[in-house]
Amino acid sequence: MSSVRLTVHDAFALGSIDRRLLGGFLEHMGRAVYTGIYEPGHPTADEDGFREDVLGLVRELGPTIVRYPGGNFVSAYDWEDGVGPLEERPVRLDLAWRSRESNRFGLNEFAAWCRKADVDMMLAVNLGTRGVDAARNLVEYCNHPGGTFWSDLRKQHGAAEPHGVKVWCLGNEQDAPWQIGHKTAHEYGRAALEAAKAMRRVDPGIELAACGSSNSRMPTFGSWEATVLEETYEAVDYITLHNYYEDVEGDLPSFLASSDSMDDFIRTVVGTCDHVKGKLHSAKTMNLSFDEWNVWHQTEFHRGDDTRVPWRDAPELAEDVYSVAEAVVVGTLLISLLNHSDRVRMGCLAQLVNVIAPITTEPGGTAWRQTTYFPFADVTAGARGRALRVEVDSPRHPTGKYGEVDSVVAAATHDEVSGELVLFVANRSTDVAVPLELELAGSLAGHTALRHRVLQDADPGATNTARQPDAVRPRDVPVNGPIRLEPVSWNVVRCARRPA
Ligand code: AHR
Repeated sequence: MSSVRLTVHDAFALGSIDRRLLGGFLEHMGRAVYTGIYEPGHPTADEDGFREDVLGLVRELGPTIVRYPGGNFVSAYDWEDGVGPLEERPVRLDLAWRSRESNRFGLNEFAAWCRKADVDMMLAVNLGTRGVDAARNLVEYCNHPGGTFWSDLRKQHGAAEPHGVKVWCLGNEQDAPWQIGHKTAHEYGRAALEAAKAMRRVDPGIELAACGSSNSRMPTFGSWEATVLEETYEAVDYITLHNYYEDVEGDLPSFLASSDSMDDFIRTVVGTCDHVKGKLHSAKTMNLSFDEWNVWHQTEFHRGDDTRVPWRDAPELAEDVYSVAEAVVVGTLLISLLNHSDRVRMGCLAQLVNVIAPITTEPGGTAWRQTTYFPFADVTAGARGRALRVEVDSPRHPTGKYGEVDSVVAAATHDEVSGELVLFVANRSTDVAVPLELELAGSLAGHTALRHRVLQDADPGATNTARQPDAVRPRDVPVNGPIRLEPVSWNVVRCARRPA
C-alpha cells in the first residue's frame, strides 16, 4: 500500500491567517432567516425571536464573520424597509427568489443576532436597482456615531452605538444575467468605484470588495475581473470569487477532486489581479474574498425567476441534504482556501442555515448538524496562527474530469503561541486507504501526532436527518501507530511535542 508523505517546515510559512477566511453567509432566501435563525414563538426563541438552538449550533460551528443580506436578494432590496417599527415595515416582492418579504427581520435584527452569535457583520449594498446614494446612507446609518439624519435614525431605532461594520460588498454577481440590475463589466466597474468613493468618505475605515465573476464558467470570466479592477483598483481592497461544486454525472472520483478546480480558479484570479497591478503601475497588491463557496445540488434547483411559481413566504429553497462524500469535498475546499490564504483573506461558506447549509431546522421543531458542519467546525477550531506550506508526496489516481490527481490533499496551520501544528488532510480515493508519513522539520522536528479525528463512513452517501441527526459524527481515533487515511475521509491530525 503506498503511503503519502507530508513534509512541513515552520520556516515555509504562507503567512498569518485572517480569521475572516472562515466566514458564513445568511441571505434572505428560502428559510435561512425565517424559521431558520429567526422564529418568534419557537420553543427556543429568545426575547428577540432568535432560535437559541440555532444560535448554539452557529457558535459551535465558529464562523468569524457573516455576509448579509444577499446574494441575489440584495440586488433589488431597499435596506430602509428592514429598519424601524415592525408594524410600519412594508411587505415586498422579492424578485430574486419569488418570495414575499415581510421585512420583520432587517439590519438591526441582524446586528443583534451577530452579537449573540459572536460573529462580525459583512454587509452587501444594492448596486442592482440602486447605487451611490443608498450605499452611502447605509454606511452613515450603520457606522456614524450620531448627530446626522441617518445616524440619529439608527439611534431612534434602538441602536445607540454604531454597528461598526468593517467589510462591505459592492453589490452581488453583477456579471450574471439572472441578477436584477445586471451590468457590463464597464458599467459595474464605474458604479462600484463611485459607490466606493462615497462610502469611504463617510467612513474611511471600511474595507470594500468588488464583484468578481459569479463562477469560473461564466463566459466573461477573466475579462470581467480585468475590466472591473482597472476601474476600481485603488478604491477597493478585494475582488470576490463565487463557486459551487456538485456531482452532476454521478462521477464520485471527479467530484472528490473538485478542490483542484478551486485551486486553479484562485490561481487564475490572482494572475488577473497581478496583471492589472502591473498594467496600472500600482504599488498595491489586491486580495481575494471567496465570499460564496460550497457544495450545491444546483442542477436540481429551480431559479427564483420562474414566474409559474406562486409567490410564497419563506419557501423551502435549496435545502440540500449532504452526504459524507460531500463533507469530504467541503473539507478539501477548506484545504484549498488555507493553502491560498496569503491572497484569499476572506471567505464565506454559502450558506449557514437551511439554504445549502451546514445547519438545518424544522419550523417549530429541531435543528441539527449536516455532515458538512464537521469539517468547517474542525477548521474554525483548529486553524490558528500561520498557514504553512505542505509538500505533499501522494499516490495518484485517475478521474474522468481532471485526469490524474493526488489522492491526498493537505493544509497545515501552526499556532506559535501554543506551538501546536494542525494538519487538515483528506483522502479523495474512493477505494484505497493511505498510510500517513510525517516529515516535520525546523522547530517542528520534535513534534509528533498526538490526536487524530476522522469523518468517514462505510457508506460515503450517509447523511444526517431530523430523525437521525447523529447518524454521521466525526470520531477520535487513538494514535498508537501509523495513521491510516481511510478512503473518502476527512482527517484532523494535531501535532505537538509529547508531554514529558
Ligand atoms: O447562495 C445562493 C445564491 O447563489 C446567491 O444568492 C447568489 O449570489 C449565488 O448565485
